Amino acid sequence: MNAPFFLDCDTGIDDAMAIGWLAATPGVDLVGVSTVSGNLDAAGGARNTLDLLAMMGRPDVPVSVGAHDFLDHAYSGGAPEVHGVNGIGEVTLPRAAAEPTGTSGAQAIVDAARAHPGELNLLAIGPFTNIALALELEPRLPELVGRFTVMGGAAMAPGNVSELAEANVANDPLAAHTVFTAGFDLTMIGLDVTMKHVFEESHRQELLAVGTPVTTAIAQMLEYYYAFYAQRYGRPCAVLHDPLAAAVATGEVELAVAPTVPVVVDHTDGPGRGQTIADLRDVYQGFPTVYPGGTRVALEISGDFAGTLLERLSRL
Ligand code: BDR
Ligand code: CA
Repeated sequence: MNAPFFLDCDTGIDDAMAIGWLAATPGVDLVGVSTVSGNLDAAGGARNTLDLLAMMGRPDVPVSVGAHDFLDHAYSGGAPEVHGVNGIGEVTLPRAAAEPTGTSGAQAIVDAARAHPGELNLLAIGPFTNIALALELEPRLPELVGRFTVMGGAAMAPGNVSELAEANVANDPLAAHTVFTAGFDLTMIGLDVTMKHVFEESHRQELLAVGTPVTTAIAQMLEYYYAFYAQRYGRPCAVLHDPLAAAVATGEVELAVAPTVPVVVDHTDGPGRGQTIADLRDVYQGFPTVYPGGTRVALEISGDFAGTLLERLSRL
């Protein structure tokens, strides 16, 4: 039986791979997508999403443009050094006929949750502005949504945009704090796990060898992404942030260590701004306590995710 999924994203090269994961995974009913500014502006992210979905055989999925600006500050440019000015490594995709819905991203999230009460799988892989705005529209959202998986934060790992902060949380710390403390059934896929799962040049070559329009486009985007990560890893490769969160959301990646603990976000203007502060003090007792209302914080996953992802994207 198909399970309903709603994706909130800032498409983005690794977002594109997450969309690919959802499109290629049996049993996933992608009922809608909303975009938010992050890697690029929300409108550009929607264009990329529509074009990718059409290439992946899902031109029917409604895509809604969400927040351009963040809760307490304006969007001031994306991450062209990581994802390119157009968000997808300057690759030009065939333009899809579909246009964004006229609905706001936050309203689209609320509508999807109301249409599938208690069953919707929500996946957020960009800044959390749309989710925070959706909470304002519908305070019962945490009860209406089934499982909620986010790519964001770092519990023990260092940050990727500051010493402590991960990009999705850092873009809108107030929204992230609102979401982490709202009472969702929430799983956090942060840098603790994502930084350990990478595509190498061999994976990219295998995608090129598959030779479909989708695998070729993703391989071309990855060339750009690899150049950025080469500065951190000393070789061309790419961290699989967003597709890993998608795979956890669809239940295909097991969390080996994932305590359920309180998480708050530093949304002050101090040096810790954007830090996800997870209460991991039970580590010395093997995390026996599950805190009511806490977040499931992924610290380790099992298996070879890069191999699984390559196989999945090769179906597209
Ligand atoms: C996150 O930030 C974005 O650049 C990526 O798409 C991912 O969602 C990683 O920190
Ligand atoms: Ca993203």
